[in-house]
Amino acid sequence: MATSVDKTLAEQGVQSAEQVAAFFEELRARFDTEVLAIQDEASWEAVRHAWQGRKSGIFVLITDNWLKKANAELKAVVGQGFNALRKYVDGRLAQLESEVKAGTEAWENVKDRVDLSLPGVVRPLGSRHLIRQVFQEIEDIFFSIGFSVVEGPEIETPYYNFEALNIPEHHPVRDDMDTFYMDLPKGSPGQLLLRTHTSPMQIRTMEKQKPPVRVIVPGRVYRRDNPDATHSFAFHQVEGLAVDTDITFCDFTGTIEYFVKQFFGANVKTRFRPSYFPFTEPSVEFDVSCVFCGGSGTTASGTCGKCKGAGWIELFGAGMVDPAVYGFVGYDPKKVSGFAFGIGIDRLAMLKYGIDDIQAFFQNDVRFLKQFP
Ligand code: PHE
Repeated sequence: MATSVDKTLAEQGVQSAEQVAAFFEELRARFDTEVLAIQDEASWEAVRHAWQGRKSGIFVLITDNWLKKANAELKAVVGQGFNALRKYVDGRLAQLESEVKAGTEAWENVKDRVDLSLPGVVRPLGSRHLIRQVFQEIEDIFFSIGFSVVEGPEIETPYYNFEALNIPEHHPVRDDMDTFYMDLPKGSPGQLLLRTHTSPMQIRTMEKQKPPVRVIVPGRVYRRDNPDATHSFAFHQVEGLAVDTDITFCDFTGTIEYFVKQFFGANVKTRFRPSYFPFTEPSVEFDVSCVFCGGSGTTASGTCGKCKGAGWIELFGAGMVDPAVYGFVGYDPKKVSGFAFGIGIDRLAMLKYGIDDIQAFFQNDVRFLKQFP
């Protein structure tokens, strides 16, 4: 219970000299804490008033409630304790008063000498990372045709990353996605991994909402690749998913072509090649004409180094959602259809901005970052 100066010592059960001493000790500590808040004359005055105030300052209350009402044996001890406390508090307050006043005067002096019209110190502002900017650009394009943006966890379960995407255990495509598994304590209920693609969010989204679905999912993904100019163990994708009762392959190609032309400009050409993903059927690989050589495969100095003469650059995997996937999320494959795609963002950004080393995105060299304010 805290010491009170509103009650007598007897009311607070004080019977010995030691108890009296402890009470004064506590008041001194209380004062020391209050002093910490003193910053200027006003806060100094508040503390002074609380302790030395003539009407109901702590000193007045100690005199009235403790000293005057102390019983005969303790009176002398209370008197001594009180005197010591008062001396300490008076002394500290006087010292602080001169410090606070000197501080204020010092400030007045400085103020007169400082030229407040001089320009201030310019602190450099950062900017958003190029990958973030590209995410934003892509989001804006898909926003404009009715998609919304969702994000999901980078640590996933094998169920969302593989099984529910129709990739059972031992399926060979798991080998293409060299996966980082978490080193979990023994006895943990299941495995966890760093997602190898943003596709798990297809499942999480459909589990949560009924069709129609139109989402894109920007995010970071991980694979056990050795770093070089085109590989990194962490990179970025934007997943896309549209599911409704009447979505056709035409909606799919139309949407993707719209996106590519918005992003790279109207002159870029697009093409599909058949491909394979366990969660889309049919699956395609989507290419754009090389933005460096205009699709010709050659530049003034010979074979185009970017597309290696092919005239095309592979940009993303996509396809119509495999009906088997609907089975995992409780959609009726006879009633709905849709498409999905996964765009490699680092690749896209490198192409659009002429960057030839993916590592530049992760090294965060300010000289690089500054080129994309
Ligand atoms: N998730 C696939 C990958 O990372 C890309 C993809 C997404 C393919 C959606 C089809 C549909 O390679």
